[in-house]
Amino acid sequence: GGAASHVFVVLGASGDLAKKKIYPTLWWLFRDGLLPPKTYFIGYSRSKLTVDDIKKKALPFMKVKNGEEQKVEQFFKINEYIAGSYDSPGDFSKLNKAIEQKGSCNRLFYLALPPTVYESVTLNLKATCMSKSDKWTRVIVEKPFGKDLESSNRLSNHLSALFKEEELYRIDHYLGKEMVQNLMVLRFANRIFSPVWNRDGIASVVISFKEPFGTQGRGGYFDEFGIIRDVMQNHLMQILTLVAMEKPPTTNAEDIRNEKVKVLKSIQPVDIKDTVLGQYVGKPGGKGDEAQGYLDDPTVPKGSVTPTFATAVLHVKNERWDGVPFILRCGKALNERKAEVRIQFKDVAGDIFPDGEVKRNELVIRVQPDEAVYLKMMAKSPGMSFNCEETELDLSYSSRYKDLKLPDAYERLILDVFSGIQINFVRSDELYEAWRIFTPLLNKIETEKPKPITYVYGSRGPKESDKLCHDRDFIYTGTYKWNKPEPA
Ligand code: BG6
Repeated sequence: GGAASHVFVVLGASGDLAKKKIYPTLWWLFRDGLLPPKTYFIGYSRSKLTVDDIKKKALPFMKVKNGEEQKVEQFFKINEYIAGSYDSPGDFSKLNKAIEQKGSCNRLFYLALPPTVYESVTLNLKATCMSKSDKWTRVIVEKPFGKDLESSNRLSNHLSALFKEEELYRIDHYLGKEMVQNLMVLRFANRIFSPVWNRDGIASVVISFKEPFGTQGRGGYFDEFGIIRDVMQNHLMQILTLVAMEKPPTTNAEDIRNEKVKVLKSIQPVDIKDTVLGQYVGKPGGKGDEAQGYLDDPTVPKGSVTPTFATAVLHVKNERWDGVPFILRCGKALNERKAEVRIQFKDVAGDIFPDGEVKRNELVIRVQPDEAVYLKMMAKSPGMSFNCEETELDLSYSSRYKDLKLPDAYERLILDVFSGIQINFVRSDELYEAWRIFTPLLNKIETEKPKPITYVYGSRGPKESDKLCHDRDFIYTGTYKWNKPEPA
């Protein structure tokens, strides 16, 4: 009981995102005492459910440990559930009444909803559910933010007519990852990197995302979007932006986002000639999922040419980066789960060592799994010999920091919404630029329907992608393998 300070409303509470991510995240924040005291939760969706039903759905994803059972009970005690439709003003005023009953408080609305109901839900929120007097209202939205420049602009215009930019929190959960947040510190707090962080020092940049599983029954959703919209246009572009932007004058959200927009404006639309598109097929003789190709997913339309793998080379036409290829690479059903940034430096000038012995330096920022930053470099082979040898300076988090537990991306981001910190949320002009860069390519794929190159489930993806990288000055020698160090 008692008056609330904050009410957090999950719209779409019966859905997948809510049970897998949002409720578990709220629970972890509650468990760790990170939320403001007197925060309450209300779930809202069409199904006639109870808090107990929500609990049953979310529990398998909440990672409750022994001894936390009572705390879980406390958490669900401060939860409510309201069934209502997404277009009925009457239902939204029921929701509003439920919030008002908790007194004058700040309100957060999380739209864990299909994009088809975004418009009506936001209209109703604006009309009926905004907080009064000196309390604030914040609205959290998830991708898809449209599916091309035009539909994204339509959504942006719709939202900006209802809410101020300070009230809108567009989530790209990659911005909540430790290593993505680390990019700013690595770049702007280290004198050793600043003089070489440009076209004189850097040959190429590769940003990659790999997943070892296919669409897993999400094929219906996925087929309308494809890997370029699902991962490249948002997550990988955000990383690219942080690698390429100029130093902002301060670390406040508007200064940072201004720089992000500025560098995006220097990027030309992607040319289909600079891409390799792939689609996975089942592994012959494979077991279970790996035997299933993308087109074998019953939710995928027959003969679909939607890419599940894509490599694209982007060009940043500014004084710092002109001529440096930024290669984005992502795919489903590959050989491993990994996301990383690889900054490959130019060859040593006037090399005095035997041909081929000296390899390029590479700075690798491993986003996941096994968070690490390591610098591949040459050193003398230890001992009598005078050969050069590849080695590394390695900052592996698991060995450098004992018992480290990094927060989940959603935990940080949702907490940022409570605190009103917008650094790690996407501003509407950023979104506009990202769609501008990809829309011509997406249109071309839609109209010309180029047949994607097939690759086998569990492989490294199409060989054509490796060739494209090589042609664009990313030299993979295969002579060196980074080994994960022992835990601390
Ligand atoms: C989501 C994509 O945005 O990111 C999914 O829609 C993808 O297809 C997921 O699996 C990857 O997120 P993470 O945090 O597991 O790397």
